[in-house]
Amino acid sequence: MKRACVIGWPVEHSRSPLIHNYWLKLHGIDGSYEKEAVPPGEAEAFLRSLAERGYVGANVTLPHKLAALKSADIADEAAYAIGAANTLWLDQAGRLNATNTDALGFMTNLEAQAPRWNLGRRPVLVIGAGGAARAILYGLHKGGAAKLLLANRTRDKAETLTGSFGPMSETRDWIEVVDWKERNRAVADCGLLVNTTSLGMTGQAPLDIDLAGLPADAVVADIVYAPLVTPLLTAAKNRGRTTVDGLGMLLHQAVPGFERWFGVRPEVTPELRAHVASSLGDK
Ligand code: ATR
Repeated sequence: MKRACVIGWPVEHSRSPLIHNYWLKLHGIDGSYEKEAVPPGEAEAFLRSLAERGYVGANVTLPHKLAALKSADIADEAAYAIGAANTLWLDQAGRLNATNTDALGFMTNLEAQAPRWNLGRRPVLVIGAGGAARAILYGLHKGGAAKLLLANRTRDKAETLTGSFGPMSETRDWIEVVDWKERNRAVADCGLLVNTTSLGMTGQAPLDIDLAGLPADAVVADIVYAPLVTPLLTAAKNRGRTTVDGLGMLLHQAVPGFERWFGVRPEVTPELRAHVASSLGDK
């Protein structure tokens, strides 16, 4: 029997077991996917001992994504560019491999839910400058976005993030930092607006942004998936804009890990979506 897990601190809220155990059952695979609460400072030691613990691999959530990259013997371009890993597996030689599937998850879902997001190759306005923003900037770069506008409450963090994409040299001019107080104005030229902050999540304040100037055919995406329809997405829907919720990203980022560990490429289906959405108290 093959076993995988998700490590985090806290980890209780993680929906990953719901996704992977759904696929295990669907494909009749003799395997399991478990939650492991690993305190800060202990992630590297835990991941280095995956084999002894009987695991073939792991997902990694906050706050261990940087430690996960450090623990790996081999990491791919996405993990290095994003500076963090969320999916690990042991290869036949026992080496710990790492990738980051957040960018892929975001882009696959965006292409599925809003295939016309880049039609006019207009700027994409990204809100936030944390770890999630970094993955999404990388994904948008790979996915052919022409121009990125990055707005963060703390401007310095946006500048630092922009500068951190060293090897992707052309990226320097490709990302323009927009002052936080200019964000409502920046909305006007956008083909896509993405919230990468946790604002709008249950228990948090909504993202404070005015969508009045957003072009009629622009797309609004949120990485928050609890609630499924955030105040930002409600505002966008009320204006008739195409919206992309955060649940699809969560589902799509899980695909490569499952395939590595269990040898079957699973699919993101409406049934899986409904299964996970029902755990969010949503449909
Ligand atoms: P993660 O790595 O998961 O993306 P993070 O690093 O804590 O999380 O980033 C949270 C993001 O939400 C940051 O961009 C943060 O802005 P600051 O850099 O100014 O802290 C943003 N954020 C959090 N609360 C906010 C608020 N009330 N208004 C605007 N932005 C906020």
